[in-house]
Order: sequence, then C-alpha cells, then structure tokens
Amino acid sequence: MTNHGDLHPDSIAVGHGYDPADAWGAAKPPIVLTSTYVYRSAQAAKDFHRAFFDGAVEGEQGGAIPDGFIYSRLGHPNLTMVEARMAALDRAQDSAGFNSGMAAISTVGWALARPGDSVVYSRPIYSGSDNFVNTVLPNFGVQIEGVIDACNEGAIRTAAEAALAKGPLRLFMLESPANPTAAIVDIALVRRIADEIGVRQGHRPLISVDNTFLGPLLQNPLEHGADLTITSLTKYCGGHSDLLAGSVSGAADLIGKLKSLRMILGNHMEPFTAWLMLRSIESLAVRTQRACSNALAVASFLRDHPKVSKVTFLGFLAAGSAARAVYDRQCAGAGSTFSFTVKGGEAEAFRLLDQLKLLKLAVSLGGSETLICHSATTTHYNIPRERREASGITDGSMRLSVGLEHPDDLIAELSRGLDAV
Ligand SMILES: Cc1ncc(COP(=O)(O)O)c(C=O)c1O
Repeated sequence: MTNHGDLHPDSIAVGHGYDPADAWGAAKPPIVLTSTYVYRSAQAAKDFHRAFFDGAVEGEQGGAIPDGFIYSRLGHPNLTMVEARMAALDRAQDSAGFNSGMAAISTVGWALARPGDSVVYSRPIYSGSDNFVNTVLPNFGVQIEGVIDACNEGAIRTAAEAALAKGPLRLFMLESPANPTAAIVDIALVRRIADEIGVRQGHRPLISVDNTFLGPLLQNPLEHGADLTITSLTKYCGGHSDLLAGSVSGAADLIGKLKSLRMILGNHMEPFTAWLMLRSIESLAVRTQRACSNALAVASFLRDHPKVSKVTFLGFLAAGSAARAVYDRQCAGAGSTFSFTVKGGEAEAFRLLDQLKLLKLAVSLGGSETLICHSATTTHYNIPRERREASGITDGSMRLSVGLEHPDDLIAELSRGLDAV
C-alpha cells in the first residue's frame, strides 16, 4: 500500500484502491454486502487464517496465499479500498477505517494507553474527544493533562511535566485545527519535545493528530512528526452529511494494533458506508477548493461587520504571530470551518440563528450545505463552562461550517440575521 506513485492527491482521490479487473471490469466498485466468505477448501480456509493472524504469505501446501477475506468484522473489500485511498492521501503506510470519528479516536486511546500512563491533550478539542480523555480514560487509570496554547513551547513543556509527574507519558492526543475555535497546534514542536521525553523515560510518547477540520488535502500531520493522523470522515471526506465514518493513518505496525483492537470492538466501517466514502472522496479536491473560497468570502464579511467581535478564520491569523508561522508551515489552506462571536452573548447569538434558513442550524461540519451552531449550548454543551471559556468558547460564539452554496447568498442571509441582533 505504500507506493502511491507520483500522482497528485486530486488524482489519488478519484480511483486509488480500486482495480476494475477485480470486479468484472466494472468502472466503479461494487458494494460487497456479505458478512462471511466461502472458502474453496479446508486448507484454503486455514491458510487465510494463517495469513490474517500470523502474517503468513505462503500456503502450507506451497504457493502464495491469495488475497481474501474471512468475515466482514475482520475486513471486507470496500473497507480495504477506503483504507488504501486514505493511506495514499495521508501519505502513510496504512490506514484503518472505523464506523465513526469517535470510534477511531477512542480506539487510538484504548490501543495505546495503559493504566498508570499519562496523556497530554490539546485544548479545546471536539467535545466527544474531551469526554473521552476527561472521563473515560481516567476511569481506566490513565492520567490526563490539557494544554491550551499548543504553539507555545513553555505551555507544552508545562503540561508534559505535569503529566510525567503522574505517570509515564504515553501519548499526545492533539487536534489541529481545534473544534470549534480553529486553534492550531505546532506538531513539529510537540514532536521535538516528545523526542526529548523519549530519551528521558526510555520510550517516546506517540503523537496523534485529529485532522478532521482540514482533512488530508490541506494538512498532513505525519509529515510534521505525528505518528497517527485521525480523520472523522463524517465531515469533509464524506462531505454530504449523510454518513458516519472515521480513519486513522500511520505506520503499518501501529495501524495493525488498531485493526486488531477494532476486530474485538467491532467498530469497523461497514460496506455501504465504505462504498459511499469511496464515491465522496472522489470530489474532495473540488469541494475543498470551493468551500475554502466561500469561507474566505464569508469570514471577510463577518470580520468587517460591526456586530461581530471576533472571527477565528485561520487565514486571518496575525502576521508575525507564533500561530501564523505554524499555519504557514503546516497547513496548505485555511479550511472552511471557524467560529465567530457576536457582541453580547447567548441572546444575541440566538436572535441571529433563529433568522437563518439557507444556513442550517445543526451540529456537524464539512457537508455540502452550510451549517451553523451555538457551540456552548450544543456541540460543547457538556463541557464545564470554566473549561469551555478557558478555551475560547463563549456565550456569543458560533461555529460556522461553510458549504458549497453561492457565497453571496450566504452573506446576504447572515447580513439579514445580524440586522436582527
Ligand atoms: C474534530 C472532530 N473530531 C472528531 C469528531 C467525531 O467524529 P464522528 O462524529 O464521526 O464520531 C468530530 C465530530 O464533530 C469532530 O469535529
């Protein structure tokens, strides 16, 4: 799966991972809806199991063991195709597909952290991930430390030392840009610190980066020192708000650990979702371009509006700031999800939201339609106020995921909404 040739990501996105010769020459992949697979013989069945569990490549009676499947929870053709494509896009050795972004994130935590270990996470972080690290992991004896400004070396070191005081530091769980504020993490800096800690404690903490906000075409965490890049494929890769899926890409040995655990947890991506995903990823490049240009137009309108006090669009990061330097080095574009804050608080934000029709009032992001929500009372509702506000999520702030509509229509509706504030 490692040879991706010289193709551009746009081209990889269209067909990588599927060979029509494998399916009667069909130009597009079929959906393989079966839970189990039939073997030619008992020996063939044994060889498939030897290949799956022991990595055997040769049959006991000679000859190479052909590619094949055993049972869909262990793997199936549509999943293999998605994994090949995501690995190629993430420029990784391998990828594992899951039935949601949270399945991917929690499996990373379960597979890598052990009771007594500590984990450092960046703040803010998607609320499901926040709950996972703050409530689920501690219940299993894993100690947690958060870091708010993860472009700041001192802040990362302080969090890492606090974590080390609690137990061996196993993992940096990062999300960049962060949901909902689009705060960014300096991945290369975290890697440098992780390398130093590795020398001190005898094993280097691994680094996972949730890349959902930018996706594989606008940011490649692995190239900046991360070990694992996690994507909620529900968002931009799925792109139409009609499925739930997730992926993790990285070195084959690490991804192998995740796949082994996935087999036990049963949280793999199922065939129809995988098929939809293959179809969606084909248009990721053009959708990304349009969403990004729309987002720039909408963010510029909001920045100049007198009733708006703050816009966290990455393209507006101040020249000369640490975050700007990281953004320029790490990201190939600003994406199309960001937050903005109206002057006032919850009441003013609600007045705006209740005016909107073209912009849909809903959680989630990355769909073809523009979605907007009030983070403090929806996506981040179950994060304690203190933790929310320390991370920049205030009563006046809303998260906007700009879609593919005409930008003038989006701006006209936001303008009318802001008139009502
Ligand atoms: C940054 C980020 N990561 C992970 C997730 C979880 O993904 P899923 O809803 O596919 O489980 C979300 C969902 O909103 C998200 O925004």
